[in-house]
Amino acid sequence: MNAETMLETRGLNAYYDESHVLRGVDLDVRRGEVVTLVGRNGAGKTTTLKSIMGIVRKRSGSISFEGTPIIGLTSDKIARKGIGFVPEERGIYATLTVAENLALPPVVSEMAWPLDRIYGLFPILKERGAAMGTTLSGGEQQMLAIARVLRSGAKLILLDEPTEGLAPVIVDAIGDLILEIKKTGVTILLVEQNMRFATRVADRHNLMVHGRIIETMTNAEAIARENDLLAHLGV
Ligand SMILES: Nc1ncnc2c1ncn2[C@@H]1O[C@H](COP(=O)(O)OP(=O)(O)OP(=O)(O)O)[C@@H](O)[C@H]1O
Ligand SMILES: [Mg+2]
Repeated sequence: MNAETMLETRGLNAYYDESHVLRGVDLDVRRGEVVTLVGRNGAGKTTTLKSIMGIVRKRSGSISFEGTPIIGLTSDKIARKGIGFVPEERGIYATLTVAENLALPPVVSEMAWPLDRIYGLFPILKERGAAMGTTLSGGEQQMLAIARVLRSGAKLILLDEPTEGLAPVIVDAIGDLILEIKKTGVTILLVEQNMRFATRVADRHNLMVHGRIIETMTNAEAIARENDLLAHLGV
């Protein structure tokens, strides 16, 4: 297998004012992988994504994407390198239609998906093209948020708890989509509390505790240790 590193953090520290939240995060994501960050509430998962994205600014250590240091860049420039962030709150424009939301994102790479390809994977977004963002269900909002970053051409997608608050049948549908997106060569770093979903879609898992990654395991290892992990995650 080609083990080319796409994203690498070394000794990543991050702070909210005086509060030291990330305490030396060493993370590797290889091209084409789906990799998770799992851990208890408050472990620092969202902060890791926001630090990579340059949204949390107060940080030290190194972050490199495709071999280039990105820690000094603004979040806009980081997005233009080809990293797409889908935040927990999804970040779609509520007062615009679905089609307008899909028309907006700036194209950042040659991997940008044309609209017909988006609609091929997400037929519901075509059906609901004229609907306002506010009228979408949680699952549809999640799909639109993912579609937007694909449309922009993100090579690496940071997904923060995409299944949160969704019914099981919708969680399964999101899982199907992630597996399809993975087949196209897009790399995904996924924060997820739902271990069943995580082990369905991911290749590797990183266990975060108190602002550090204490262990990385293959999907087979995570499945074999599911009960132990669930106890560890307190779910
Ligand atoms: N904007 C903020 N200002 C100050 N402290 C924050 C802020 N956001 C998060 N924190 C704190 O940083 C720590 C890590 O939070 P983070 O949101 O990264 O955790 P998480 O692993 O994503 O948790 P969850 O599973 O609840 O989403 C927590 O102690 C949290 O209270
Ligand atoms: Mg979080």
